[in-house]
Amino acid sequence: MGENSWFCKTLSVIADCNFAEREYLFAQSRILKRAMRERDEAILKQFRIDDADFGIYEVFLEDSTRTKESFRNAANFLRVRVTDLVSSTCSLNKFESFRDTFHTLIGYGNQIFIVRSAQEGLCRWLAKSSAEYCKRMGIAPLPAFINGGDGAHEHPTQELYDDFTFLEDLNWDYSQIHIALIGDLLHGRTVHSKVDGLQIFSRVQVDLIAPDEMSLPRYYLHGMIQHGYIIRSFASIDEYLEQQDPAPIWYFTRLQLERMDQSILRHEAQLRSSVTFRQEHLAILQKLQQKNGQSIRFYHPMPRHKKFPVIPTFLDNSEYNGWERQCANGLVVRISLLALIAGRRAPEPGLLPQPKTTDEVPVLYQKIELSHSRGPKVYSEGLRPIQNGIVIDHILRGYPPQDIRRHMQRIVKLMQLDHYRGGQWVGSSHGVGCGAAPERAPNDSKKIIYKGLIFLPDAQTFSPEQLRKLSAIAPHITINYIQQSKVHSKYRLLQPPRIYGFQEIGCLNRNCISHESHCEGADPEF
Ligand code: NCD
Repeated sequence: MGENSWFCKTLSVIADCNFAEREYLFAQSRILKRAMRERDEAILKQFRIDDADFGIYEVFLEDSTRTKESFRNAANFLRVRVTDLVSSTCSLNKFESFRDTFHTLIGYGNQIFIVRSAQEGLCRWLAKSSAEYCKRMGIAPLPAFINGGDGAHEHPTQELYDDFTFLEDLNWDYSQIHIALIGDLLHGRTVHSKVDGLQIFSRVQVDLIAPDEMSLPRYYLHGMIQHGYIIRSFASIDEYLEQQDPAPIWYFTRLQLERMDQSILRHEAQLRSSVTFRQEHLAILQKLQQKNGQSIRFYHPMPRHKKFPVIPTFLDNSEYNGWERQCANGLVVRISLLALIAGRRAPEPGLLPQPKTTDEVPVLYQKIELSHSRGPKVYSEGLRPIQNGIVIDHILRGYPPQDIRRHMQRIVKLMQLDHYRGGQWVGSSHGVGCGAAPERAPNDSKKIIYKGLIFLPDAQTFSPEQLRKLSAIAPHITINYIQQSKVHSKYRLLQPPRIYGFQEIGCLNRNCISHESHCEGADPEF
């Protein structure tokens, strides 16, 4: 039996499984789907866990039909014990922590947990905290946590069977995908999982169709840009149909009313109408299809609103219907997933390449060549030039002075710089732009540009750990090392790809499991 890298895997976000693992899961799911259709018991048997002591636990703290019931049906198919937590009467309602709740259920001999909650990042936190618990209790192997949707964050197993369905329709060709994402892109976690999920395709073209109020958050949009996706944006289906190149895959999502605040809900009808497919769209679409010689299919993670469905029911019996097969594929892919996580159906040796390592040490700074054309730069402490020390420069360059001062206070506190001699300064210059600022700042280019400086005469150097922290809280600043009153060397800090391991840097997202309001003690990770 070859090594199965799915074994005991926690799936918190789609990027927790690499491309080879996803491809392998799809290959297994294809075998399973055929065997289910043909009732090929010999093959089906290879997937079955067939162990009444193998415990799968469903913890659903938000409503669900498909995710919960497909996992339950999958567990029944696999012939294992499946239980669900009665969320309305459990002790989470008595302010018990997730950690204590899950440790209890692990202690009862359950191996796989399917978790849906409003707390983003919960599965990753559970995997971490339960590893320590299992060590204390001598429990092995470690339990796996599958994210069945965490707030407006991700829904990795939905992504897996969405991709499986797209691939079925693309004849298993991974070379390219052109997809339209329509609806509530702001809250739709199934859409957010597409950012890293669609990376399995070599070329990705995404059309985003949503009014501003429901547009894709900037964080996810940046992710798509970084992955090299070709992106177009449209405010409505009407606007989309004015151009000549519609995607062959239309992925609809419902309006997540339960996550919207009053300011958005006020425009509900108008928002809904911009992303709802209507009878009059059909003729336009058919004309475009004819012109392009193209077939188009619609998909939807479901549920559909019974009164205001974004895909109208008159299309159920048409060639556009891809969502019903997509939904049925959910069971097949989730059976394969559970079987693999339980250690069944191990791949042939050598099939899975090693996962990409994520532990490479990121480059945190870049040396800046000194320009002496205007004479050597001198920083002063009060009236005298600084003899030896460090000057942190370009802090929040381009922001208003009050923001800069606040941020310098933060830096001093977090870096524990207050025991150094020295001070802080808001400097200014006339000039263009705010090249060093992470985002284009509010003040205009022709006006005075402000920046913050922290003077640390006597400071000699920063340790790698201090630099890691500084780059997390103040990327794009420069650090100037002063020797004999002159800038001896200068570095610009870069934004680190991942920020973690700092208790004192908290998450501002109230839904994140690491937010202090949840009192779980989860370390923030960005
Ligand atoms: C989705 C979800 O819960 O994120 N549904 C699902 O799992 N199939 C989509 C939704 O609720 O709109």
